Amino acid sequence: MNDSLISLVDIEQKLQTESPQKIIKYALSQFENIAISFSGAEDVALIEMARNYRPDIQVFCLDTGRLHPETYKYIEKVRKHYKMSIQVISPDGEAVRKLVTEKGLFSFYEDDHKECCGIRKIEPLRKKLSEVDAWITGQRKDQSPTRAEIPVIQNDTLFARPNSTLTKFNPLANWTSQEVWGYIRMCEIPYNELHDKGFISIGCEPCTRPVGPNQHEREGRWWWEEATKKECGLHSGNIPS
Ligand code: ADX
Ligand code: SF4
Repeated sequence: MNDSLISLVDIEQKLQTESPQKIIKYALSQFENIAISFSGAEDVALIEMARNYRPDIQVFCLDTGRLHPETYKYIEKVRKHYKMSIQVISPDGEAVRKLVTEKGLFSFYEDDHKECCGIRKIEPLRKKLSEVDAWITGQRKDQSPTRAEIPVIQNDTLFARPNSTLTKFNPLANWTSQEVWGYIRMCEIPYNELHDKGFISIGCEPCTRPVGPNQHEREGRWWWEEATKKECGLHSGNIPS
């Protein structure tokens, strides 16, 4: 194991017992060029926390072109609430045109979601992450069986540029959904109105549905696929190959 890996393991051990706020504070103290990846859901808590330390924190949102109208309205609401800019990133138009022309608008129900997510989310994310040294996500362990072991800090080898490192922070990893929502309500942060309509986890409109009583939040995402494979590629490193 080389020195940088040893120190990352040490840092991870120390940060594991820290609050999300302390983890974010640490992340911002280490990286100037760092961005929050905001999905338009309860990960808004990250923005609230980070702005206490860095009011002009970079925030970006991957606009797949298939988000719910409520999510678009919410992104705008967050922008106005914090009087901040949010980088809204579109996929490559030519790639989308090709996919839709060849396979139609709902190919993900027949193939699987990988191709569409690849074009609408992963490639735009890759491009964005090539501009930063670190990123912050709202992933939590309780969100999915694929996330049960996520660390609060990790080396992102999936999206790192060749010969350079990219650090990924998951400050909410050890918080439960209840804790995130307790924080959102305590800070009186505006939230996506879909949450009042039975949605818990929110992604693209055709691939997200509300969940019923006692259903896990992830059951509302890509419901036609197996639970152990439900990563769209943004966090596919969570699934052992
Ligand atoms: S997904 O991979 O299944 O879509 P999920 O919705 O659980 O991810 O969100 C986990 C984290 O991934 C979010 O907190 C956010 O950091 C990032 N993320 C997911 N979707 C987007 C998006 N459209 N734009 C920016 N970040 C996103
Ligand atoms: Fe396409 Fe669905 Fe993935 Fe959105 S979640 S990019 S619509 S497959």
